[in-house]
Amino acid sequence: MPKPKSSTLQQHFVRQDILSLDQFDIDSLFKLFSITQQMRYFAQHSQPLDLLKGTITTLLFYEPSSRTFGSFTAAIKRLGGDTIDIQNPGQNSSVAKGETLKDTIRVFEAYSDLIVMRHPVTGAAKAAAKAAFFVPIINAGDGIGEHPTQALLDLYTIYEKFGRLDHLTCLFSGDLLNGRTIHSLLRGLSLFPGNTIYLLSPTSLKLKHEQLENFKKKGLKLIEISSEKAIPKTADVWYWTRIQKERFSDLTEYEKVKNALTITPQLLKHYAKKDMIIMHPLPRVGEIAISVDTDPRAVYLRSQVRNGMYLRMALVSLVLGKIG
Ligand code: NCD
Repeated sequence: MPKPKSSTLQQHFVRQDILSLDQFDIDSLFKLFSITQQMRYFAQHSQPLDLLKGTITTLLFYEPSSRTFGSFTAAIKRLGGDTIDIQNPGQNSSVAKGETLKDTIRVFEAYSDLIVMRHPVTGAAKAAAKAAFFVPIINAGDGIGEHPTQALLDLYTIYEKFGRLDHLTCLFSGDLLNGRTIHSLLRGLSLFPGNTIYLLSPTSLKLKHEQLENFKKKGLKLIEISSEKAIPKTADVWYWTRIQKERFSDLTEYEKVKNALTITPQLLKHYAKKDMIIMHPLPRVGEIAISVDTDPRAVYLRSQVRNGMYLRMALVSLVLGKIG
């Protein structure tokens, strides 16, 4: 049976592609969160679940990944599902022989029930979803486009801490131009009223003007700042990101900005309030000092990572129609 076609999820995730945060409304988000909560309970109490028994998910990763790849693998295996693991098909497979994305997708939809794909080209997830007639595609990052599952776990982590996703003050810092996690997270936060986001980045890595205007239209209050000195002391969330080296065609440009913005205990002391959280999608490459890791406000190597696995357990189960 061909998969259903709909641009919004409307609480019905079954066999639907998950490509963008634009597909979500508040109800579908909270439905996902409530199942994530259940998955967390099961995982923390080591209760074996075989919800995904008999299912096969292809993990098709055209870009290096250990975290997201590992998180999906752990999520699926904890629920008794199987995976076909393909990393760097550009080097290791028929893609290296010249196979098109469309053909690759058609082959793996014949083998599996779901395809989770990461690809360096923006829009590739959408193209894959179009090519797949029968099985849903989950976008695990498409170029500088989006990274919906990362944003979903980020939103869940923020919700877990503050009990709300509205009227928050956030600071997003780093590579706002190329950081796909940022692009998805802004979409997610724009679903809720009263959110203010301060944007701090090197001038060359600012959010595209067009995107900025778009998010403002959606109701986000966006304030661009160009120096750490302008960081508000009221932020609930600091979301720091890596400068995306792989997106630079000229590495001397990367060298100029790579160490531009770093969280240190001193920076936190001056600008961060007590009741806030420090987030990062990982991997970090120096933009958060190691000495910050023991700060109780730092969640990036703690709940943020764990929540990723619980949320992916929930999302895959919903999409495969195993829970509802
Ligand atoms: C992010 C990505 O791939 O966009 N990583 C991840 O999925 N955890 C962020 C990054 O690579 O900087």
